[in-house]
Amino acid sequence: MRQIALSTTASYQALETHALEAEDWLLRDLFAIDPARFPAFTVDAAGLFLDYSKNRLDARTLELLADLARERGVEDQRDAMFAGERINLSEHRAVLHTALRAPREPALMVDGQDVSADVHGVLERMRVFTDAVRAGIWLGHSGKPITDIVNIGIGGSDLGPKMVCLALRQYAHPRLKLHFVSNVDGHDLDAALGKVHPETTLFIIASKTFTTTETMMNAQSARAWFLERAGADALAKHFVAVSTNTEAIKTFGIDPANMFPFWDWVGGRYSVWSAIGLSVMLAVGHGYFSDLLAGAHALDLHFKEAPLEKNMPVLLAMIGFWNRQFLGCPSLSIAPYHQDLNRFPAYLQQLDMESNGKCVTKGGQPVDTLTCPVIWGDCGTNGQHAYFQLLHQGTDVTPIDFIAALRPGHEMGHHHAALLANCFAQSEAFMRGKTTAEVKQDLQGQGLTEAQITDLAPHKTFPGNRPSNTILMEYLTPYTLGALIALYEHKTFVQGVIWDVNSFDQWGVELGKVLAKKIEAELNGDAQPAQHDSSTNGLIAMAKAAV
Ligand code: F6P
Repeated sequence: MRQIALSTTASYQALETHALEAEDWLLRDLFAIDPARFPAFTVDAAGLFLDYSKNRLDARTLELLADLARERGVEDQRDAMFAGERINLSEHRAVLHTALRAPREPALMVDGQDVSADVHGVLERMRVFTDAVRAGIWLGHSGKPITDIVNIGIGGSDLGPKMVCLALRQYAHPRLKLHFVSNVDGHDLDAALGKVHPETTLFIIASKTFTTTETMMNAQSARAWFLERAGADALAKHFVAVSTNTEAIKTFGIDPANMFPFWDWVGGRYSVWSAIGLSVMLAVGHGYFSDLLAGAHALDLHFKEAPLEKNMPVLLAMIGFWNRQFLGCPSLSIAPYHQDLNRFPAYLQQLDMESNGKCVTKGGQPVDTLTCPVIWGDCGTNGQHAYFQLLHQGTDVTPIDFIAALRPGHEMGHHHAALLANCFAQSEAFMRGKTTAEVKQDLQGQGLTEAQITDLAPHKTFPGNRPSNTILMEYLTPYTLGALIALYEHKTFVQGVIWDVNSFDQWGVELGKVLAKKIEAELNGDAQPAQHDSSTNGLIAMAKAAV
């Protein structure tokens, strides 16, 4: 569907006018005048609960945002995605990560192909293989069970599996240690190889394209390391591949029988549900992997069926859009108050920023509003002792998504009470702030002199009025994690539709790759120095002199 420029739409213009009215709203007043704000601005789905009441908006704002979502065609685009239409226009591909977590029936037919049969066929092959490794039936070349798994991949072929394996560490097989190697920096592979033994290690080469420089270089080096320590016939027991590119896998020397395929309609950053999740299934087993898929599927159904006004990913997307465009917030901080989610912010960076970090529309026109904010963050409470100072008193307003489980996966209940207390206290502090009058009253209570109070008060004042969402689940389980990931996937999708950008390509990563190839050849002496700018020339000369 051809979109008109976002800022010229009637619903956008209505929001613009409304934003002027909302400019002076204070969150603490919004709570004071409406005791029912919490029940009104919360929603639950698929084991997740979202409290979006601590955002600078009211019911009218949400109505207008829903009008915008409708005018931009969110519902039609959503249905087109689920149906397997080729909504990734610049690559002419369908976008079907939702099919990866759908049940076998009803079958999804796309271009005459039974996609569900393909998906469940690969899942079954993954189950057989991972069961054998986990049970100690799949043995290394010298007859010993596998103890270590090294996943070699980057971007979506690393961030998803790594994040999920960490998040589900309590569900993992006790014998299997997972290692993730992504960086072309040899220190990464070197560190992993230093921890494993060739007789008991399984390498997974995970790459959608099987051409990504980093992964190919790490895979070749891992293979060379292995062959120095074991014969070539041992390779089949220790190297498997996950890819869409069978030919490249054969060329690399991996038997296609040891390849777990997926399809071009799975975007790298949406691929953890596919065979790219092989390391996850090895760690937690087929049952828990199925629970992960089931949680995501439950969220898919909610996204498909709930009205926009009560649709969790749509709400997150619309609120994010409001904060970005009308409150001018340049970034979004992700604060999981759960140590096992410590890679979740990094995972969301790729999901959101590679999807929506764009400045042209699907039709090639400049987007006439702001697009994706910078996504960043770290676990609470660690972040509180590092960058929360800026979040409370810095000059930019940074919205925060707090994420927590109501019940812990350990038995130190007092730790969990302290953790949740901090999580809730932070969102309260961001919302309320502390006025100068309140600060002065406190300081008077502490017996400070008027002069001391005057000096200190500005430093101890908190502007507050800073928006946040809180996402809660009962426990962090495979099911709730699946729902959480799918929640953010669909949020990203909805924002992409509103901005009319293609959330499923990533041309912006290409230029640096091409230039790096040229410079690499120059550094290796295989190419004459090209004419760069003086800075790049100078840096290349320094690197060459250091060899
Ligand atoms: O360069 C970016 C990118 O293409 C990501 O989108 C992708 O997740 C990553 O590289 C890895 O790609 P592949 O799985 O093909 O190795």
